[in-house]
Amino acid sequence: MDRILRPMAKGDAPACAAIACASAIGERYGFEPASMTRTLVTALESGGELFVAESENRVAGFAWIDPRGAFSSAPYLRLIAVDESLRGSGVGAALLAEFEARTVSVGRDWCLLVSDFNIKAQAFYERHGYRRTGALPDFAREGITEILMVKKLKVTKP
Ligand SMILES: CC(C)(COP(=O)(O)OP(=O)(O)OC[C@H]1O[C@@H](n2cnc3c(N)ncnc32)[C@H](O)[C@@H]1OP(=O)(O)O)[C@@H](O)C(=O)NCCC(=O)NCCS
Repeated sequence: MDRILRPMAKGDAPACAAIACASAIGERYGFEPASMTRTLVTALESGGELFVAESENRVAGFAWIDPRGAFSSAPYLRLIAVDESLRGSGVGAALLAEFEARTVSVGRDWCLLVSDFNIKAQAFYERHGYRRTGALPDFAREGITEILMVKKLKVTKP
């Protein structure tokens, strides 16, 4: 597939918001297109690091990262989402690889949170080397546990 990764522009925000809102997390957390668009634009205006994967001149997916967002020290993947019709074709893997490449110099383990119900995303992260490290019950929503997943920067030998 013809695909490029590039910084998100404000004009991409509505398409990215639509992708996030159409996902299972969008539905469970009640994301709404207009407010998600504003959230993304505000993040861009305040210097947030967001990038998109573009395929055939349309946004295929995006990621929002914070290089020291985990515990004010480690790279944190705030949000990643791929257009439902394009999932399973490597877009997510490319976005995740970009997150890791952009933050490798931070020198700390890569961190993210994934909801307990998001089984496919958990499997996706596990295939890419992330391990369950902790659980935060009722963290963002009552009744939903957020699972902390961490990928070691340096793999320690047994
Ligand atoms: C998690 C997510 C970003 C992965 O993106 P993706 O583009 O599907 O990822 P990839 O194509 O690189 O990998 C998906 C894996 O599932 C498999 N797969 C096959 N068909 C698939 C499909 N229709 N949908 C999803 N995955 C599929 C792929 O083969 C691949 O397996 P592999 O890692 O063993 O190669 C994407 O599913 C998504 O946007 N989910 C909704 C939003 C979300 O939950 N984000 C995570 C929040 S923590």
